[in-house]
Amino acid sequence: MKNTAEIPSYAAPTGGRLSDDMLADFKDAGVLALRDFASVDACDALRARAAKLVEAFDPEEVRSVFSTTEQTQLNDDYFIESGDKIRFFLEKEAIDENGRLRQKKEHSLNKMGHAMHDLDPVFDRFSRTPELAEVVKRIGFVEPAIVQSMYIFKPPGIGGEVACHQDSTYIYTEPESCVGFWFALEDATLENGCMQFIPGGHKLPLKKRNYRGANGKLVTETLDDSPWPEEKKRPAEAPAGTLVIFDGRAPHLSAANRSSKSRHAYTLHVIDQQCRYPAENWLQRRADLPLRGFN
Ligand code: FE2
Repeated sequence: MKNTAEIPSYAAPTGGRLSDDMLADFKDAGVLALRDFASVDACDALRARAAKLVEAFDPEEVRSVFSTTEQTQLNDDYFIESGDKIRFFLEKEAIDENGRLRQKKEHSLNKMGHAMHDLDPVFDRFSRTPELAEVVKRIGFVEPAIVQSMYIFKPPGIGGEVACHQDSTYIYTEPESCVGFWFALEDATLENGCMQFIPGGHKLPLKKRNYRGANGKLVTETLDDSPWPEEKKRPAEAPAGTLVIFDGRAPHLSAANRSSKSRHAYTLHVIDQQCRYPAENWLQRRADLPLRGFN
């Protein structure tokens, strides 16, 4: 398909061997959906493992809320230090005026991040399949490394909106090499706040860059303040098992989840280690947990 106003979508290719058409569409649109990339069993196993990790998490330990609509959250040390850990982030609306959770713990979380793929064996297995390694190779990575993993809960009722952004704002390399791999673990629909993309929007400049400033706090610098052409956004409605691949410059967003259904998803971000990874990027690794590719 060549209509770049839409999100190109295919059945997952055998062995992750992306066809020339798929690669051309990804290059044109900056986003590519592959249905049935992960099996229902694999998605269920990852959800079950996430549920176990959530069970062991005590929300009293943390009041950190992740929000891309409020810069203050990003300044939280709990977030900044999570690049080589497994940490939990509550939804903005999770806590009531008395400081108590409005909903049960598993329905209060925004996300878990950012190194499950290197610290948890079940997440490691899901993240390093031969099929995904092949996809990454076909996209053109020479020395790929999985720089972060995120488990997104998008809980019923309070799953927060994510404003339009580019992931290379946060995961910046020189030259830019970040690509996102988003797996629907449950059906994602407009009703429960699916991802939305501006097809072709990855050809726009990088509009913002987020980095550690001189005082160690995160700052977001605006490089281009023109508005997003949000009238061109398209929903990436995705049945469980779908993989959505997107360029680090692809503008994307998601609406709040006001429905009664959760919308669990798992995201990996891959960079090429042949590119320079700035020490100012928020996400840093301790020396004894080096970045790994797909081996
Ligand atoms: Fe994003």
